[in-house]
Amino acid sequence: MTNNKIYIFDTTLRDGEQVPGCKLNTAEKIEVAKVLEEMGVDVIEAGFPISSPGDFESVEAISAHVKNATVCGLTRAVEKDIEVAAAALKKAKRPRIHTGIGSSDIHIKHKFNATREEILERAVKATAYARRFVDDVEFFAEDAGRADIQFLARLVEAVIKAGATVVNIPDTTGYCLPNQYGDKIAYLVNNVPNIDKAILSCHCHNDLGLATANSIAGAIAGARQIECTINGIGERAGNTSLEEVVMILKQHESLGLYTGIKTEYLNPISQLVSDTMRVPVQPNKAIVGLNAFAHSSGIHQDGFLKHSETYEIIRPEDVGAAGSKIVLTARSGRSALAHRFHKLGHLFNRNDVDVLYERFLVVADSKKEVEDHDLQSLAHQYVQESAAVGV
Ligand code: KIV
Ligand code: ZN
Repeated sequence: MTNNKIYIFDTTLRDGEQVPGCKLNTAEKIEVAKVLEEMGVDVIEAGFPISSPGDFESVEAISAHVKNATVCGLTRAVEKDIEVAAAALKKAKRPRIHTGIGSSDIHIKHKFNATREEILERAVKATAYARRFVDDVEFFAEDAGRADIQFLARLVEAVIKAGATVVNIPDTTGYCLPNQYGDKIAYLVNNVPNIDKAILSCHCHNDLGLATANSIAGAIAGARQIECTINGIGERAGNTSLEEVVMILKQHESLGLYTGIKTEYLNPISQLVSDTMRVPVQPNKAIVGLNAFAHSSGIHQDGFLKHSETYEIIRPEDVGAAGSKIVLTARSGRSALAHRFHKLGHLFNRNDVDVLYERFLVVADSKKEVEDHDLQSLAHQYVQESAAVGV
């Protein structure tokens, strides 16, 4: 495998927007799409054009605004869907149709009441039909995570023959373990005869909290596109989080894989998506959570203040975060307290800090976080007492 770039396919505006209450209007979608493009995303999945007139309009408008990234529209393996997606993508500089069908026996039997052979035929027909409209067609084998591997390999080979440029292997239900998902991709890389004619893509859901781990396992095994969303939003427990895969690949250079993402955009875009979709980011979320660079226990604070790399593997400025934070709580230690007093302009010696630390703990036990105004009161009172006894 000579090309080690991992293409970042962002589906915040499609899979992410499927979250109840996250619906965006066209203007909001354009705003997010512009920042995604600036940040260096390779593919923006703008929506599912046949699903509603509003989604059609959004895909059409994003197609007109986006200059460099590929703009993608989702369809079922249905001719009408494909025609509508092609119409919505008409103005895109690099249009992609993303079509597909269920590939696991559960989907084949219960969703489609069909046989594997019938699914294969529909997949090939849809891919070939989509190729009549655009040169770039991605095929998704829905629920590939639970699909029979030999059937999946036949399906992948057939859609590549029909013209698919990218084949998406979704773990739709978030079922796989990382080694299982990685093995699945490796099997396809090694057993599909025409695999060199297409890119394999990871699309992992987070039902067991494994979406990011599975996507990375897929990339290590040979997939060269990862489908993800900002803040990991998406159906049910969400999708692979864009910021996590990008930073994992950046931090682990030894993997030899890289993306084109400008990482300093990660926190600002996280905030933008959270605000426009009105979905708060959990405080302990990797890379973009409020506490991602906050240090609260005394042991950690002491180490961090001596050398930041003792407790931080990422520099906050590299991901556009405001900075590291020392949070003062009842678990904090003397060095963090002295450091904060220093920042507030009070240069106390070691004895002073010992006395103040006992008073600080009384305040800290009564509230979640000790704030600067609490420390100012403690400091002023201490300075006054010291002056009164002539210290
Ligand atoms: O999770 C999934 O399988 C999907 C497909 C439509 C790509 O979102
Ligand atoms: Zn999905």
